[in-house]
Amino acid sequence: MTEKDFIPQPYSAAVEQGEVSWQSPSNIALVKYWGKLENQIPANPSISFTLNNCRTTTSLKFQKKKDLATDFDFELFFEGEKKDSFRPKIQKFLERVEPYLPFLKDYRFVIETSNSFPHSSGIASSASGMSALALCFMSLEKQLDPEMREEYFIRKSSFLARLGSGSACRSIEGELVVWGLHNSIYESSDLYGVPFRDEVHENFRNYRDTILLVDKGEKVVSSTVGHDLMNDHPYAETRFRQAHDHLDELQKIFRSGDLEEFIKIVESEALTLHAMMMTSQPYFLLMKPNTLAIINRVFKFREETGLHLCFTLDAGANVHLLYPDNEKEETLEFIKAELLQYCQGGQYIEDHVGKGAKQVKLA
Ligand code: DP6
Repeated sequence: MTEKDFIPQPYSAAVEQGEVSWQSPSNIALVKYWGKLENQIPANPSISFTLNNCRTTTSLKFQKKKDLATDFDFELFFEGEKKDSFRPKIQKFLERVEPYLPFLKDYRFVIETSNSFPHSSGIASSASGMSALALCFMSLEKQLDPEMREEYFIRKSSFLARLGSGSACRSIEGELVVWGLHNSIYESSDLYGVPFRDEVHENFRNYRDTILLVDKGEKVVSSTVGHDLMNDHPYAETRFRQAHDHLDELQKIFRSGDLEEFIKIVESEALTLHAMMMTSQPYFLLMKPNTLAIINRVFKFREETGLHLCFTLDAGANVHLLYPDNEKEETLEFIKAELLQYCQGGQYIEDHVGKGAKQVKLA
């Protein structure tokens, strides 16, 4: 599919007003997206586990305008309160997606959104937030085009979510999602995320992710700026090639169930991501002393127990602890006893792999 396939034909139905609501999860990348080209095209392919508990719920009320539509018309509420500070981000999203949703200026929208995870926890809400919003707009488009096929609905939702925030395109479906063209992954595309359809060993079923909230403060450098710094990064080409190779290796690992090899790829990806930050110009550092303390404790735990706990990082100081479901008792006991001391206010979130976004039925 190309971008043009997402430009709709004239709609067959008329819709005056209504409301739709979606709940969409966050995701955690195993191979990281870091670096992009024009129009949110990723510089390398990535793969993520869709999460289950970290979710954004968004509802969209729409009312057809009587007068000639000249601009976008929307109001935003976050956790019940009016949130004008989110306006520029949403305005930009609407501008980017308008060629694909030509009805946007014809309606007045009220967008209400809330997260299942604590506000300012440093948990990226752009993936869950942008995917939930994209799905809401697609539900409206489906009312305008009742014949729309399910596959198109899902693909286009991911395509639109990507234009809001790259990683958001991996939050529509579960359980493993690939985004970015890769030679040996069937149907992979730079334009949207696709579920990883190869064989996956049962070791990876219901994989756990305990998120340690190390630092809840504002990030010193946003992801968007970080991506841009990959443009003339001295190691960029090598890094992008490595991501392709890591996906090849992961494909084999998912088949074989080899957890030791899985850990090598996942931790290398996390440290490479932060190495890219530390070696860009200007360089920056998002890990905190407690991030490193946790990583060292994870290494030691693995050495002492032979269990398969590993870590990954996003663009921040928080640590995602990944481990197999059948090791959860001992692992969680260790996390609670030894690692919560490194979290701000002892805060952590228990999550696991999930199946993707769900429409919320309105009463
Ligand atoms: C480190 O998707 O937040 O989490 O496209 O600019 O919105 P934008 O960036 P964003 O970048 C996420 C980067 C990452 C790695 C990943 O999720 O693959």
